[in-house]
Amino acid sequence: MNPRFKVVDHPLVRHKLTAMRRRDTPTPEFRRLLREVALLLGYEVTRDLPTATARIETPLEPMEAPVLAGPEPCLISILRAGNGLVDGLLDLIPTAKVGHIGLYRDPKTLQAVEYYFKMPFDIAQRHTIVADPMLATANSAIAAIERLKELKPLSLRFVCLVAAPEGVRAFGEAHPDVPIYAAGLDRELNDHGYILPGLGDAGDRLYGTR
Ligand code: PRP
Ligand code: URA
Repeated sequence: MNPRFKVVDHPLVRHKLTAMRRRDTPTPEFRRLLREVALLLGYEVTRDLPTATARIETPLEPMEAPVLAGPEPCLISILRAGNGLVDGLLDLIPTAKVGHIGLYRDPKTLQAVEYYFKMPFDIAQRHTIVADPMLATANSAIAAIERLKELKPLSLRFVCLVAAPEGVRAFGEAHPDVPIYAAGLDRELNDHGYILPGLGDAGDRLYGTR
C-alpha cells in the first residue's frame, strides 16, 4: 500500500460518510455532508502548512502571533464533484485561491479526458490541495497531478472522500511524493470502475443529475 496514504479516522467522519453512502440520502443532505466532511478532512490536510508570525494588538497588549505563511494556499477542484469538497475547504481557508480542472472518465476506457484547466497565475508560489471525492482507478487524480506538476507549485496534497485500494496503489506508483488524505478506504472496484461499497457517482449525487 502507498505509504503516503492516510485515512482520517474520526467518529464524526465515519458517521457522516455512512450517511452519504445511503442510497436514500437526498441531494441537499449529501451536499451538506460533503461540505462538513471537507472541514474535518481539511484539519488534517492542512496540518503541515507553514506558519509565520504577525505583530498584532490584543485588547490588552501587542504580541507576535502565528498566522498562515503567505501567500495563501490554492485549492484545486477536479470537476465536477471536487467542487463539493472545495466548498468546505473554502469555509476553512476563505482567502485561498481556487483552481479548476475539468476531467471526465471515458466510460469505456476509464481514461480521464480533460476539458477545462484554469489555475491562479502565481500557483508556483503556493501550496496546493487537490480535491475530488472519489479515487477509483485514480486515472483522473493522476492526470490532474501530472498537469499541475508542470506548473511547479510549492507542494501538492490530494484529498478525497472514498478511495479504492487499486487507486491508492496506482496513485502511489505515479506520484509517490504526493500525500493522499481520505475519509475511507473501500474494498475494490467493480467491472465498470465504480468503488464498492462506495456511494455511487459522486457528481450525480452532489448535483442530482441521476
Ligand atoms: C468521478 C469522480 C472522479 C472520477 C474518479 O468523476 O468525481 O473525478 O470519477 O474516477 P477515477 O479514479 O477512476 O478516475 P466523473 O468522471 O464521473 O465526472 P463528473 O464529476 O463530472 O461526474
Ligand atoms: N467515480 C464516482 O463518482 N464513483 C465511483 O465509484 C467511481 C468513480
